[in-house]
Amino acid sequence: MSEKRYDFDSGLDRRNTCSLKWDFCEQVLGVPEVIPMWVADMDFPAPPEVVEAVRKRAEHGAYGYPFIPRSFWTSIINWMQARHNWEIKREWLSRCHGVVPAINICVQTFTAPGDKVIVQSPVYYPFFSAVENNGRRVVRNPLLFENGTWRMNLEDLKNKIDRRTRMLILCSPHNPVGRVWRREELEKLAEICLKQDLLIVSDEIHAEHVYKGHKHIPIATLSPEVAARTVTLTAPSKAFNLAGLTTSVVIIPNQRLLNLYKTQLDNLGLTVNNIFGLVALEVAYTHGATWLDQLVEYLEGNMDYAQRYFEERIPQIKFLKPEGTYLALLDCRALGLPQKELNEFFLKKARVYFDEGPIFGEELAGFERINLACPRKTLAEALGRIERAIK
Ligand SMILES: Cc1ncc(COP(=O)(O)O)c(C=O)c1O
Repeated sequence: MSEKRYDFDSGLDRRNTCSLKWDFCEQVLGVPEVIPMWVADMDFPAPPEVVEAVRKRAEHGAYGYPFIPRSFWTSIINWMQARHNWEIKREWLSRCHGVVPAINICVQTFTAPGDKVIVQSPVYYPFFSAVENNGRRVVRNPLLFENGTWRMNLEDLKNKIDRRTRMLILCSPHNPVGRVWRREELEKLAEICLKQDLLIVSDEIHAEHVYKGHKHIPIATLSPEVAARTVTLTAPSKAFNLAGLTTSVVIIPNQRLLNLYKTQLDNLGLTVNNIFGLVALEVAYTHGATWLDQLVEYLEGNMDYAQRYFEERIPQIKFLKPEGTYLALLDCRALGLPQKELNEFFLKKARVYFDEGPIFGEELAGFERINLACPRKTLAEALGRIERAIK
């Protein structure tokens, strides 16, 4: 029997559907007819199996307090085994209302006010606010950009750890630089964290979007010692476009740390998850593999399309193809525009909206982050707009 083919070309109209990505430009920035390529969600519907399950649950009509069934946890365990070769146990698992809330809870739970937390900038900017808003101090261990690719600076990391440094927040795969960290890189990083007694909080939300020639390795799988010092945060939300259902997964093999995490979850009153999020997670992890494989192929097609387009028709801008994630960096430094003018140029002249590089760290001055999780025709239209604006 031939494999079912899913359609990523048609996309869907997301305007006026409470979509942050689509409704923000017109309603907040006041610029109409913009193609939004910023916040990280996708212009594809979730897998039809998920949509159907959520529809069925909605039709039931009673939306009282949910109970998390055993099958929910089993779907996570089976997914991690099948996709990431990671054997996890039920008693390592907890949950949250998103990866960002979970990062905040980890900062609150595992560090004290005034403690230092390391982040590898440029990085997803809520890492900074999770530390600073909770009265802790951010220590930046900037990535190095060499020969068109990014790598960790472990010498700098070693030099920046002192008695007040408690935690490192890892982004793996990395948003926005698109690296899928190799085993040797993770091993060296983990070695330093173990030696210096740092807790690793590993945000692996982008783990499911990895391109040919690369493989995501959950850092906790490196060794039992690393697992005992790691909190892994993940979710099906990026993979299957479920962010609005606010359901995420927390994996903590160390029972002492897990109990502390759960206590803080209770202290914040976060005892109930969204009922549709529970349904969607389980169905996505149980029935979503084929859809996801085809999606990743489609996304890589978008990456290759954009790379060729920039090389051939907009050579003033360098497209940095990522190893994973549906986000990519545009190196616009050759245009010579100050950041504000660069942003205005894209929004008002080209009518495409990106996330500006510096929100992820000053290392990205002159860069923009583009989200390519859209039908190819939308991407083609956006690239055409940029090309015409440049000319
Ligand atoms: C690295 C990373 N972590 C977390 C999130 C958001 O997670 P959530 O919506 O589950 O809070 C994003 C979204 O872009 C992200 O890129």
